[in-house]
Amino acid sequence: MTEQTDNMGQDPKASTAEADGHVVSGAGWRPYPATMLGPEAGAAPRPHRPGGDTLVHLDGVSKSFGSLRVLNSVSLEIKRGQTTVIIGPSGTGKSVLLKLIVGLLLPDRGEVYFDGGRVDKMSPTDLVEIRKEIGFLFQMSALFDSMDVGQNVEFPLVEHTDMTAAQRDERVDRVLRMVGLSGLQHKWPSMMSGGQRKRVALARAIVLEPMLVMYDEPTTGLDPIRADLINELIIALNTKFGITSIVVTHDMVSAAKIADRMLLLYDGNIICDGDPETFLRSENPLVQKFIQGQADQIELESIRKGLDTQRVEE
Ligand SMILES: Nc1ncnc2c1ncn2[C@@H]1O[C@H](COP(=O)(O)OP(=O)(O)O)[C@@H](O)[C@H]1O
Ligand SMILES: [Mg+2]
Repeated sequence: MTEQTDNMGQDPKASTAEADGHVVSGAGWRPYPATMLGPEAGAAPRPHRPGGDTLVHLDGVSKSFGSLRVLNSVSLEIKRGQTTVIIGPSGTGKSVLLKLIVGLLLPDRGEVYFDGGRVDKMSPTDLVEIRKEIGFLFQMSALFDSMDVGQNVEFPLVEHTDMTAAQRDERVDRVLRMVGLSGLQHKWPSMMSGGQRKRVALARAIVLEPMLVMYDEPTTGLDPIRADLINELIIALNTKFGITSIVVTHDMVSAAKIADRMLLLYDGNIICDGDPETFLRSENPLVQKFIQGQADQIELESIRKGLDTQRVEE
């Protein structure tokens, strides 16, 4: 089964040329590894959006599970129109943070606001309303395997709108086109590749035209080409449609490419916060350790791939 790559008229050469022009210098600069700066890394300098007013606000939020303290008085404002990338080691509470924003979890202490409304005190009816404004791409794509692609994407429209069948068809068609899966309404998710399933899940997450889309590790498990397709989609939704994005990722290549702002969550707190260049230059040893750790992973992968090639040639 082939993956469609002809989505949204992207010119693949454009980002390569920009990446080639990416010059890194400056006092105190500690280079992040060359593997992150190659053309395939797509580390093109994109103008970072300053962002508008605050769309999401966490004020002194703490969350524990039993004796496990996950978030320790986290305060954070997400600006409208920006792509904010959250990185951090496994188990630091990145997914918990996203679930707090959409009211799937409640904080022990502190306050959570979305678009001015207090999420952690909202009635179930009001929560339904704000969730229409928040698309959530879960870590696992969480598609309904008993429904075809079209039905999966249409589901939120059936649940939350009084659109006619013809209007729903038109909307489903439009969002599938946006994610490069035009005309695949009648495919079964179980017959699709991981990258395609992710894009179906993304189509479903944006079908209600939300203000905010939250992506939980959207490129994990995808090869670099398919991962980059997801990066391009995140950028396009942000730049073409003004959708505010929060992206949790382990993938520093993705992070450097898509972020207007990067945050490192570590041991219950945000310990580094800035635009990608400032962030990647941070001399904070924890930030560097995290970046270097990721680089090791990338190198390991390429070494493994090299070994596979040798095996094939033998
Ligand atoms: N509903 C839950 N009940 C109990 N523990 C949880 C729950 N959700 C998350 N945790 C724990 O909280 C910690 C942070 O989880 P998570 O936010 O999923 O980490 P990550 O940063 O990898 O996304 C982990 O130790 C996880 O086991
Ligand atoms: Mg997680």
